Amino acid sequence: MTRTVYVNGAYLPEGEAKVSVFDRAFLMADGVYEVTSVLGGKLIDFPGHLARLARSLAALEIANPHDDDAWLAIHREMVAKNDLEDGMIYLQVSRGNPGDRDFAWPGAEVAPTVVLFTQSKPGLADSPQAGTGIKVISIPDIRWGRRDIKTVQLLYPSMGKMMAKKAGADDAWMVEDGKVTEGTSNNAYIVKGGKIVTRQLSTNILHGITRAAVLRFAREAQMEVEERAFTVEEAKAADEAFITSASAFVMPVVEIDGVALGGGKPGPVATRLREIYLDESRRSAI
Ligand code: PDD
Repeated sequence: MTRTVYVNGAYLPEGEAKVSVFDRAFLMADGVYEVTSVLGGKLIDFPGHLARLARSLAALEIANPHDDDAWLAIHREMVAKNDLEDGMIYLQVSRGNPGDRDFAWPGAEVAPTVVLFTQSKPGLADSPQAGTGIKVISIPDIRWGRRDIKTVQLLYPSMGKMMAKKAGADDAWMVEDGKVTEGTSNNAYIVKGGKIVTRQLSTNILHGITRAAVLRFAREAQMEVEERAFTVEEAKAADEAFITSASAFVMPVVEIDGVALGGGKPGPVATRLREIYLDESRRSAI
């Protein structure tokens, strides 16, 4: 099936969807994005993604082109037009096309460019990887200092993912000043003695929407949560580890830099949190 893509108000077959070569996202990574999961044709954690979109846009002084109701309508239309049952919706807003290349942006008269597309992933919530867990390597975090803004500047994270694949692993955890910041496209957690440890929010990491929900569910289930940075050595000595993101939900980590955790099998905390997250977020899906 040819995908229907959204570009600036038009729903088009993907082959007809076009953006200018002068678009600021293409030339300067001057844009932000969101990825929302769809399960059973419904949007997961959608208010959180819209709130972060608004925050990212405001941080870059790009006008939000739509209100929440309009964003919801566009997302629902994309689900309908693409018969999307399980998968993701990618949304990108760039500063727009000023008609030429210039480091300075021309100002408010340029309309933002809005693009959405769907990615169909049948059985997304039943990923076999959740049963086996993933392996991560550690790499230095050399990204810029505003990682709390969800920009399309993804060169280093994508290089990190490729470094991991080359090393026979699935993903990379980035390390700064001796402490893990986050995964290439997810937030990172360890569990020791039943306590869940994940880095505190700052400009150094993306404020994961899945992270917020998972920590809320963990606290509601009387699990102990500590928000602080941890080292790779501490992670290697942990009972278990996991990551969270909109597309992976809660995914167990069973190996860090070649060291197996919990006998190389997903741990009970990650497994339980995945169940709770999927149940609760399905219930609140819209
Ligand atoms: N990535 N940290 C980084 C660097 C991320 O890119 C992401 C999400 C997260 C998790 O955020 P959330 O729970 O809101 O998805 C943390 C998305 C899924 C992506 O780039 O595809």
